[in-house]
Amino acid sequence: MQKLIQWVDDRLPVVDAFEKHMSKYYAPKNFNVWYFFGSLSLVVLVNQLLTGIWLTMSYNPTAEGAFASVEYIMRDVEFGWLIRLMHSTGASAFFVVVYLHMFRGLMYGSYKKPRELVWIFGMTIYLCLMAEAFLGYLLPWGQMSYWGAQVIVSLFGAIPYVGEDLAQWIRGDYLISGITLNRFFALHVIALPIVLLGLVVLHILALHEVGSNNPDGVEIKKNKDENGIPKDGIPFHPYYTVHDIVALVVFLFVFCVVVFYFPEMNGYFLEKPNFEPANPLKTPEHIAPVWYFTPFYAMLRAITYPLFGVDAKFWGVVVMGAAIAILFVLPWLDRSPVKSIRYKGVMSKVALLIFAVSFVILGVCGALPANEQPSWMAPLFTGLYFAYFLLMPWYTRAEKTKPVPERVTH
Ligand code: HEM
Repeated sequence: MQKLIQWVDDRLPVVDAFEKHMSKYYAPKNFNVWYFFGSLSLVVLVNQLLTGIWLTMSYNPTAEGAFASVEYIMRDVEFGWLIRLMHSTGASAFFVVVYLHMFRGLMYGSYKKPRELVWIFGMTIYLCLMAEAFLGYLLPWGQMSYWGAQVIVSLFGAIPYVGEDLAQWIRGDYLISGITLNRFFALHVIALPIVLLGLVVLHILALHEVGSNNPDGVEIKKNKDENGIPKDGIPFHPYYTVHDIVALVVFLFVFCVVVFYFPEMNGYFLEKPNFEPANPLKTPEHIAPVWYFTPFYAMLRAITYPLFGVDAKFWGVVVMGAAIAILFVLPWLDRSPVKSIRYKGVMSKVALLIFAVSFVILGVCGALPANEQPSWMAPLFTGLYFAYFLLMPWYTRAEKTKPVPERVTH
């Protein structure tokens, strides 16, 4: 074994890479539960890739055959039901862990210097993930697949002058059809997974270049011992590899409970109209995206008045796009001298709380039909969502922060 490793290592620096990224990568010793979600995102990514490959083996990407092939996977393919439910549950699990992973970043200021690029790669992953989920949702060719795609692609039509041509170019047809299904399939199974994988590699390489942040926001590289090892660091392997197994076990337990007992999650993971084949002549009564898109869907619907002679729908699209775009520039909006929420002032704490609550309430608004909620609700919480970012340069400078300790607290 030793000889084999040596033989390979003489030709490809695997030992070097293992040491650099695992056994000699010093991570802060004060990681808490919020630091589990990065490795859990990796686990879900692998789950999606593997189950996706096996689904592709029996799936038929045509308007005539797609719905029936999913039923065939569920009923006739050996363990097809398990593979499919692991994939559909995995999609929701992906967003659960990624949202918690992002929230950790917001809490501990992990986006701040020198981790701006880690954050930007992360945001690009998030965009890519949203596209991947949207494209995948058309594939079962159910009623919600069809009408959800219809609503989202028609949003491009709201762009003045070029919109209609653009929407038609995306669909490859005058309406969502088998041609659209075929190209969404190609993008979902080949193009975006490659991009996603590449981005995840860049995300982790960029992180390992500067080192991990931690709940105290202390830069452990500033305090090294005589061997040049951070005093507050411990080798990622074996300490955190073993530590992360605990999270993996808990995660797999919850994941299995959902897969085996509640795969539809009462219509939140698998929507009820999607058990009916797509019918271009019958619009479902209430079209709503899957839960992870509903906050943005609520923002889209929050704008109901035309402005400067342009349709309200266009401004809705602008607001929705801005809600995501503003996250990209977050590292430059936060002007606080400290990173972690532990040492920030009361205004930052209240702002983060209001932001998180607004995002959840927007999620609820987006899931409900427009006539079953007060008309002021989505606009109010959209405003609060943006206030968190737009007022950040002011409140992070105006507030009094607590002194950050030299070493991490444990
Ligand atoms: C497929 C999705 C993703 C994977 C597999 C992934 C993976 C990871 C891993 C393994 C880490 C190191 C462990 C940890 O700190 O938890 C990490 C750190 C980080 N990620 Fe992600 N990530 C993903 C998406 C995102 C997204 C969407 C964002 C934000 C927009 C993001 C922002 C960050 C930041 C800021 C750090 C550094 C945290 C710190 O040092 O405190 N990641 N990521």
